[in-house]
Amino acid sequence: MEKCPFASTKNNEQECELAGSPVGNYSEYLKLNSLLQLQVRRTDDPLAHDEHLFIVMHQNTELWFKQIIYELRSIQQILHKSKVCEKSQQIMFQRLVRVNCILRHMVQQFEILETMSSMDFQAFRGIFKDGQSGFQSTQFRLLEKIIGIKEEQRCCTFLEKMSDKQKEVAKEKGMGDNEDICSLIYEWLSRTPALDQFIACYKEVVGEEIRKLNLAAEEIKLTDPSESENLFEEAECLRSNFAIIFDPQEFENSSRRKQGRRIPYMALMGALMINCYAAEPRFSVPYEILKNLIDMDELLVKWRFAHAMMAKRIIGGRQGTGGSGGYIYLRSTVSERYMSFVGLFEVASFLLPPQKLPGLTAAMKMEISRVYTGDLASEL
Ligand code: HEM
Repeated sequence: MEKCPFASTKNNEQECELAGSPVGNYSEYLKLNSLLQLQVRRTDDPLAHDEHLFIVMHQNTELWFKQIIYELRSIQQILHKSKVCEKSQQIMFQRLVRVNCILRHMVQQFEILETMSSMDFQAFRGIFKDGQSGFQSTQFRLLEKIIGIKEEQRCCTFLEKMSDKQKEVAKEKGMGDNEDICSLIYEWLSRTPALDQFIACYKEVVGEEIRKLNLAAEEIKLTDPSESENLFEEAECLRSNFAIIFDPQEFENSSRRKQGRRIPYMALMGALMINCYAAEPRFSVPYEILKNLIDMDELLVKWRFAHAMMAKRIIGGRQGTGGSGGYIYLRSTVSERYMSFVGLFEVASFLLPPQKLPGLTAAMKMEISRVYTGDLASEL
């Protein structure tokens, strides 16, 4: 059988000369000589040509995981402060936009791997031993941990799939150390200025809306009973929907069912207020931050879905090399259980039409105009 021209270590070294010849500042700075030596195939069978693409795709994705973790760690650091100044909010927003750009790119790039056929993959699939699989990606688990996906939420725990060495690395990388971004964001939202006044005003406006509907229904009860019935129903719908956020006990009961993903009451109300008054200068960047957190959750679901579909076309119904049910397992992770900011999605259930929003009172305006500029250097 013909020997693959790029399989041997020697050839790998030759390829690395392409990194920069003579070794100049460019390749030295980027450590290209080391980097381009890392794509080492395990088989020299020419039929296993696509192993190179397989390695590059994994390494490339691990580098993007690294960048995402780097950005998210800096956001964690900002949120750890008891007050987050305007400039830090702007920085958080920019970094979240970047994370989402990377995630979009990561979803898109599965197309490249899908140029490898199922047969092409079979040509080298046998080389994976000891449960080798993306399942053991420490960085992916770290990313999940940082954004707040809790171990108890998972339908399959990953720790048991990790070798002792990996568990050690995970510990070194600080898994479990810092509070996750989701909890930190919720704490930040609970500190939204003028929040108590907003809750009182919002309650009044919704109450008034319900009263109006009931009154209108009462007035036409005899002349138009079916329309009256509709209006009573509408009023009841509004009442039961908002009861959850106007009765803390009811809120507590309904969110208890959501286990680790529940959003604290004041955080939900803070997010609601920011969404209502996104056009106010004080709330425009916070609004963008919330929007980008929702985007991030959604993009991760899209990544999981794209990965699951790619796996399905390449391995069909076979087990994964990591020992899971393969596609069945991956598909099960495309769900709310693997999302962190589910609470932020809930805000949409409680938004009123813009025409019905309570205006900001003078006291509220005063409070939200108090800008905390802070000391950027000490925030970062
Ligand atoms: C031929 C291409 C691929 C196939 C057939 C495939 C298949 C699978 C399967 C079946 C699993 C479930 C665990 C198992 O039993 O192995 C898995 C997990 C995983 N794979 Fe892939 N994969 C491929 C490429 C990639 C690439 C390029 C990456 C990028 C790093 C990746 C990252 C992951 C991650 C992070 C998990 C863990 C997902 C989780 O537990 O939620 N995979 N893969």
